[in-house]
Amino acid sequence: MPYRIATLEPPFQAVLTLSIFTTILLSGTISVTGWRPWPNPHPTVNTTADLLFAGSKKYEGSSSFVHLKYHMGPVLTADISVHILWYGTWRTSQKHIIREFINSISSSSAPPPSVSGWWRTVRLYTDQTGANISSTVRLGAEKNDRFYSHGKSLTRLSVQSVLKSAVTAATKPLPISPQGGLYLLLTAPDVYVEDFCGQVCGFHYFTFPSIVGYTLPYAWVGNSAKLCPGVCAYPFQVPDYIPGLKPLKSPNGDVGVDGMISVIGHEIAELATNPLVNAWYAGPDPIDPVEIADLCEGIYGTGGGGSYMGQLLAGYDGATYNMNGIRRKFLVQWVWNHVLNYCTGPNALDQ
Ligand SMILES: *[C@@H]1O[C@H](CO)[C@@H](O)[C@H](O)[C@H]1NC(C)=O
Ligand SMILES: *[C@@H]1O[C@H](CO)[C@@H](O)[C@H](O)[C@H]1NC(C)=O
Repeated sequence: MPYRIATLEPPFQAVLTLSIFTTILLSGTISVTGWRPWPNPHPTVNTTADLLFAGSKKYEGSSSFVHLKYHMGPVLTADISVHILWYGTWRTSQKHIIREFINSISSSSAPPPSVSGWWRTVRLYTDQTGANISSTVRLGAEKNDRFYSHGKSLTRLSVQSVLKSAVTAATKPLPISPQGGLYLLLTAPDVYVEDFCGQVCGFHYFTFPSIVGYTLPYAWVGNSAKLCPGVCAYPFQVPDYIPGLKPLKSPNGDVGVDGMISVIGHEIAELATNPLVNAWYAGPDPIDPVEIADLCEGIYGTGGGGSYMGQLLAGYDGATYNMNGIRRKFLVQWVWNHVLNYCTGPNALDQ
């Protein structure tokens, strides 16, 4: 679907006009899923229904118009290893936040509402054999590309070349794990990736054997701190053109990285349920699949929808979050629950 528009109250009308989702077509480049964390209405909700459901407690994306389907492809049922490629300059403190988020997905040590509680919704998805998505998500190998091997402006195709360099490097290459391996390319704030900020904050796809030598599910997520924090690190930074809208305090004191966390969660949830873009998605078009996290964009808590993020939590320090991880708090968007047919998350007030 080329555009996703719905009615919103001002001042978000202004946001929405600019946040109209532009379809990324297979026109010469690679089809991917883009995501921006702005408050976004349910993409497939018809505006009449939107208004009808607006007062309902179950609004969180609940819609009879959503037809999420399983298209018979594989999902990640084997233990998942997330291999990280740090592209450009990253501080150790920033790496810690992201590693701890990934380590929190399978951890049982964080109190509810927890990141592992959030992953429980993802585990509800199965493949043809009835096997569920793995409950185990581990931090895999890591590699640094400190000196920007492919420059500071990457295209969708050159992202695959960056990954190729990482898995074929002469020293400490990232391992090839066709079973359960996910590759996360994280770019530093001074790196521009095609469509970053204007259309997307992250995307996922799989590598082509003709470029990389293997078919590996991967995602790219950019640190938007320099280029567009008001877009990709929302709500920890807000767009300049909305007067009076104040940013919320981020839970780990790093606006760019705290903003990346929800995008990383979004992409990992979709990689697990749709790694080769032939498993779980809604919509008629595999070129523009609407996946389990796309369906819940902008929804972080009970009542979320339209311009409202839903009920969130406030830390002692005034930071806003919605789930606990190991030693840290995070703000992560909800994902679609295909059993209940609405978006769910661990901080839901009615579960
Ligand atoms: C939107 O929903 C209303 C009420 O259910 C329905 O009458 C109308 O046909 C729908 N419009 C579209 C474009 O689906
Ligand atoms: C596996 O998926 C099925 C179908 O959604 C669900 O009923 C079951 O609870 C899931 N199992 C786990 C361990 O999540």
